[in-house]
Amino acid sequence: NLYVVLMAGGVGVRFWPYSRNSKPKQFLDVLGTGKTLLQSTFERFLPICPQENIFVVTHEEHAGLVRQQLPTLQEDQILTEPMRKNTACCIAYASYKIAKRNSEAVIVVTPSDHLILKEQEFQDVIRKAADQGRVQDKLITLGITPTRPETGYGYIQYHTEKAFAKKVKTFTEKPELSLAKKFIESGDFVWNSGIFIWGVQAILKAFHEHLPEMSEVFDEGVKPRLDTPGEKEAILSAYSQCKSISIDYGVMEKATNVYVCLGNFTWSDLGSWGSIHDISPKDENNNVINANAQLYDSRNCIVKGSADKLIVVQGLNGYLVGEFGNVVIVCEKDKEEQFRRFVNDLKARP
Ligand code: GDD
Ligand code: MG
Repeated sequence: NLYVVLMAGGVGVRFWPYSRNSKPKQFLDVLGTGKTLLQSTFERFLPICPQENIFVVTHEEHAGLVRQQLPTLQEDQILTEPMRKNTACCIAYASYKIAKRNSEAVIVVTPSDHLILKEQEFQDVIRKAADQGRVQDKLITLGITPTRPETGYGYIQYHTEKAFAKKVKTFTEKPELSLAKKFIESGDFVWNSGIFIWGVQAILKAFHEHLPEMSEVFDEGVKPRLDTPGEKEAILSAYSQCKSISIDYGVMEKATNVYVCLGNFTWSDLGSWGSIHDISPKDENNNVINANAQLYDSRNCIVKGSADKLIVVQGLNGYLVGEFGNVVIVCEKDKEEQFRRFVNDLKARP
C-alpha cells in the first residue's frame, strides 16, 4: 500500500532563462544525464512502489509535459492544478485522491527536481520509514546533514534516540541568516529534505488540525466529487478558496507528531547554479562544460548551450555563460539573488 506523490508544480525562477514558465526545472535534463529531473525522480521510486501508485501533481499548463516525459502514466495519475497555491494544497489534493483508493495508504511526497545519489540507500531509507509500524500516526521527513547556513531550507532539531524515526523537537522553516548560523554552530540540526512519508490518515488529520479551513473545503467540496466528471470544477473552486501556504509552514512547523529519519544517500535540491556546479563533472580548471565550447584562461565557470552553437570563453572566473534558446546570459554564477531580478526587470520592460 505504498503510494508516491511527485510535486511538479514549481516554476524555477532561479534558473531563468534556462528554466522558464513554459518549461520549469523539473522538466529539464539539468545534469546532462539524458533524463529530465522528473524522469529520474519517477524511476527512483519504481523499485519500491507499483508504478500505478505514483501520482504527479502539476499546473494544468504542464500536464502535456508530464504526459510526454512519463508516457506510461495513466491519465488519472496526473493531477492538474488550476492555479499555484503552494505545496499544502497540492498535498491535500493528492491525499484525498489516494485516500479514496486506499484508506490505509502510506504516502511518500517528494519534490521532482532534486538530485539523489546512492539511490539504493535512499530506497532503503524510504522502505524503512514507510514500514507500517513506523509510519502510523507519524509525519516523517528525511533529514540531511547541513553544510552551510542556507536560509531557503527547513531546520529540524530532534531527540537523539536510537529509533530509526527520531522524534522532532523543533521544525523551523526558512530561518533568518543569523538563526541559521546558530543552528549550524550548535550542531544539533539537520535540514529538511522536503521528502515526507506518512500514513494517509495521519496527514488528513494534520490538515484537519492545522489547516482546518483547507480541510473543510476539501472534505465538503472535493471529496464527494473525486473521480466524477465534477472533479475539475470542484478542484477549481477549492483552489480558489484555499490560501497559498507550503506544507512546511502550514503543517510541519505546527504538528507535534513529526519524526525525522536520517540516511546515507547524497542529496542536493539543485537550487542554484552553484549547487549544479558542485555536483557536475569538471575539467582540470574546475569548469563545468555542457556545450560545444572552447575555454581559455577560465576557471570555476559553467558553460551551457546547444550543440549547434560554438561558445568561446576567455579570461572568466566563476561565471555562468549560457545560451538558452533566444537568450544568451553571462553573469557571475554565485550571485543567486540576481536571477529573480533579471526576470522581474524583464517583466517590467515595455
Ligand atoms: N504541484 C505543485 N503545486 N507543486 C509545487 C507547488 C505547487 O503549487 N509549489 C511548489 N511545488 C513543488 C516544487 O516544484 C518542488 O518540487 C517542491 O514542490 C518544493 O517546493 P519549493 O518551492 O522548491 O520549496 P522550497 O525549496 O522553498 O522548500 C522546501 O524544500 C526544501 C528543500 O529543498 C521545504 O520543504 C524546505 O523545508 C526544504 O528544506
Ligand atoms: Mg526547492
